[in-house]
Amino acid sequence: MPVAEPQTIFPENYRFLQQHVYAESGIVLEDHKHYLFECRLAPLVARLGLGSINQLCDLLRANGRQELSRNVVEAMTTNETYFFRDPAHYSAIRTHLLPRLKQERRDRRRLRCWSAAASTGQEAYSLAMALLEDGFAEWTVEILGTDLCSRVVQRARAARYQQIEVNRGLPIAFLVKYFTQAGVEWQLRDEPRRMVRFEQIDLRTDLRALGTFDLIFCRNVMIYFDAQTRFRLLEQLRCCLTEGGWLLLGGAETADQIDQWFERRTFAGATIYRAK
Ligand SMILES: C[S@@+](CC[C@H](N)C(=O)[O-])C[C@H]1O[C@@H](n2cnc3c(N)ncnc32)[C@H](O)[C@@H]1O
Repeated sequence: MPVAEPQTIFPENYRFLQQHVYAESGIVLEDHKHYLFECRLAPLVARLGLGSINQLCDLLRANGRQELSRNVVEAMTTNETYFFRDPAHYSAIRTHLLPRLKQERRDRRRLRCWSAAASTGQEAYSLAMALLEDGFAEWTVEILGTDLCSRVVQRARAARYQQIEVNRGLPIAFLVKYFTQAGVEWQLRDEPRRMVRFEQIDLRTDLRALGTFDLIFCRNVMIYFDAQTRFRLLEQLRCCLTEGGWLLLGGAETADQIDQWFERRTFAGATIYRAK
């Protein structure tokens, strides 16, 4: 069987794609990511009946169609996520942050949380299940999940997951309690689902209209941004936190100048940030 030759992206097209993805998402794709472009864009090239990524670039340049542009950017986002990702964070939330918030917010019994860069929703729904387990069922809880990518926002709203997705990180007791089987998939039940809503939002836009939150997850997205975008985002996240609110970043995330706005605390082996 003949082996398909990897498609060669012309250098000017490679730069064009890098710039396009950066302009539309803030995602930095370095010079050695040819393989990533090739495998992520191949399905789009095939769907459009084109012969190569170079032809896709020609089309993008020629008609600048919004939909095509979005499809290219969305294809280049990394949407990896799973339930209760980084268990140390959830231990810290459940044993330290939620008891404090419950005490501090006991008068108004209202909690607002945000999963920024929520991907397909597992992060937001993990938090919803944790809140139900930890005595917040009678509180007014709003969890907002946002992502740049419309495809994952639609999936998150559906709250329906494949077997392989519920096998990743979700305790079996939670699967039984909070999901119902829907054919070969699993549908999240209404109680946790009602607590969460999803919107398509670019984290580089003005986020202040979202209001303030007691808990913000902004995990595993800043790794794709440059220092300037990270800086601006952190500044905005600080404005979006309530007095005494908490910010969680991804384990591998470098947060330049974070100490300007947040103080670091360690709970249950996890680093969490509190608004200064
Ligand atoms: C690796 S996922 C992280 C999911 C989840 N936070 C977690 O840690 O499991 C990164 C998400 O960031 C989103 N993203 C990338 N650039 C973005 C931007 N400028 N604004 C909002 N979301 C963005 C991607 O679409 C992707 O779904």
